Amino acid sequence: MQTETIDFANGSRYRTTQRLPEGMGPADDVPGRVAKARGVPLPDPGGLFCPRPALFLDPEARMGILERLRFEWRYWRGDTPWDTNVTPPEVLEFLAAARPGRALDLGCGTGTNAIALARRGWRVTAVDFSVKAVRTAHRKARAAGVEVEFRCADVTRLEGLGGPFDYALDIGCLLGLRPEERLRYAETVARLLRPGGDYMLYAWFPRRVGRRIRGVAPEEVEALLGRHFERTRLELGKERGRPSAWYWYRRRKPSAAGGRHP
Ligand SMILES: C[S@@+](CC[C@H](N)C(=O)[O-])C[C@H]1O[C@@H](n2cnc3c(N)ncnc32)[C@H](O)[C@@H]1O
Repeated sequence: MQTETIDFANGSRYRTTQRLPEGMGPADDVPGRVAKARGVPLPDPGGLFCPRPALFLDPEARMGILERLRFEWRYWRGDTPWDTNVTPPEVLEFLAAARPGRALDLGCGTGTNAIALARRGWRVTAVDFSVKAVRTAHRKARAAGVEVEFRCADVTRLEGLGGPFDYALDIGCLLGLRPEERLRYAETVARLLRPGGDYMLYAWFPRRVGRRIRGVAPEEVEALLGRHFERTRLELGKERGRPSAWYWYRRRKPSAAGGRHP
């Protein structure tokens, strides 16, 4: 028997008690599969497995679920070229210079960077909407002997998460969001990061993938974040032949006049 607790962004917490098949360790089981067979609710980060009927009437929610399924499927197939277990030098450079505090990893995948932060003394909250990725991340953190608060949640719906954070990191998450999600995301990061806090983003430039445009251009990033953040550095590069960029932003401090954020 294995009891597991999973926290979701809306503040709800699932506890599932699962009987694992012979030879299957806690890290190998499929979240919800055993629970479903026993008739208890599935861990459900906001409607992936048990969508409310109303969700199907809302095109935006429907698209969100499809996107989530797409990532889930890729993690299950192991079709995850980004999942290199390597923390980028840009992040290591930041960590070498910064004093540890509270960090937020947005779209954390299997937790490589969240774990790198925790190893250097940061208190890390890491969010991803893929159950499979978060399960793997939990396992990796346990193996590394560090504590990370992993949350299975949508980065555009983090109403249940409180700040302030000193540092937020996004490697490859914002670029896949749709325009209305990007606006919610920007407001969320602005709410969660303390004034003077650092935000680092890695994203590909826009390109067509199937029927969608994926990626984001520096002008759009600036339009999204410029109100609350000041860009301190931008480095253009290429990954597998495709243009991409690293962005460094700092959360603006309250203005002296009004004592409020711009
Ligand atoms: C390209 S991967 C990068 C993963 C990780 N940052 C890394 O560097 O290995 C993008 C990640 O963002 C997650 N993701 C995409 N959209 C998301 C959303 N709306 N909410 C939470 N996670 C999301 C995906 O599940 C995936 O793990």
